[in-house]
Amino acid sequence: MLRSTLLYLSNQQKIFQFVRRNGLAKKFAARFVAGETVDTALAAVATLNAHGIHASLDILGESVHNEAEARETGRQYIDLLDRIAERGLDTNVSLKLTAMGLDVSEELCVEIVHDVLARARDHGNFVRIDMESSEYTERTLALFYERFYPAYTANVGIVLQSYLFRTEQDVARAIQERSRVRLCKGAYQEPPSVAYPDKQDVDAAYVREMQALMRDGTYPGLATHDEAIIDAAKRFAREAAVGVERFEFQMLYGVRRDLQEQLVREGYNVRVYVPFGTQWYPYLMRRLAERPANLAFMTGNILKESVRRRRRR
Ligand code: FDA
Repeated sequence: MLRSTLLYLSNQQKIFQFVRRNGLAKKFAARFVAGETVDTALAAVATLNAHGIHASLDILGESVHNEAEARETGRQYIDLLDRIAERGLDTNVSLKLTAMGLDVSEELCVEIVHDVLARARDHGNFVRIDMESSEYTERTLALFYERFYPAYTANVGIVLQSYLFRTEQDVARAIQERSRVRLCKGAYQEPPSVAYPDKQDVDAAYVREMQALMRDGTYPGLATHDEAIIDAAKRFAREAAVGVERFEFQMLYGVRRDLQEQLVREGYNVRVYVPFGTQWYPYLMRRLAERPANLAFMTGNILKESVRRRRRR
């Protein structure tokens, strides 16, 4: 119930405008979002790199509604790839097709993503296409396999979500096509017609798909903070003789920093997803929905902030 409410609120732009205007939640957002500018984001990546952690930078912003916004986002990604190369940082980028204009026109989206992929190839970098709600799964995978992957095989990868029934087949296809996959559980509100409603089933599917990708896939990214699943991955790697160089763990900025550093110490590859930018509200609400304890933490911050403001008056 709470999860559904938070996911519903994540789509309410008016609430975001109110929250942002009032500075509410901004401190809390700072835990999960690396600031609002490229400079703050690159500084966060440099700190992670100094701890032996790779990164993936995401410019926050979801569905754009006109061509100019989509082109502007594409331009920002190209600049970002240039800045990463200039500073020699160890980070790739993640993007959402709706931020590249998928809801405006498919051809526009393809054109913009091609420009980003071309720049990533020039720099020897990599672009991960995030997966959005199930409304976009088929289109995202069709564009990936038909329009992006053939031309930029080494520079682009996809995300699959274990909560979707279809993912078992999508994993089989990815293995066959040798495409790089980030496997996650899935963060959106989905109907029971397309996704497992029970967490146990989502977790069990994750483990099956993770093992298939570790055994036969191409450098999968295992995106989870679930310690039971991380332990299962380590066990499977030992039993099936999958070397640590054949996969990586991925986690979100600000989540389980202790575990991120522990895995690095144990010799595993770890990549942290680093979102930044002004449009942090839907992202933040999805993080709250994943862990309601975060809501108490955020409410505490907001209360402290308002008490401080009252005292200043
Ligand atoms: P689960 O939700 O079972 O959590 C396991 C434990 O992790 C919790 O008990 C808690 O300790 C900790 N934890 C999890 N989330 C937390 C949070 N927000 N704050 C604090 N602690 C938390 N989704 C999607 O639909 N499309 C995508 O493209 C991506 N991309 C992506 C990239 C990366 C690098 C990661 C790590 C995740 C995604 N996701 C995503 C999100 C993903 O689908 C999922 O919602 C979250 O990772 C939470 O699921 P866990 O696997 O961590 O397990």
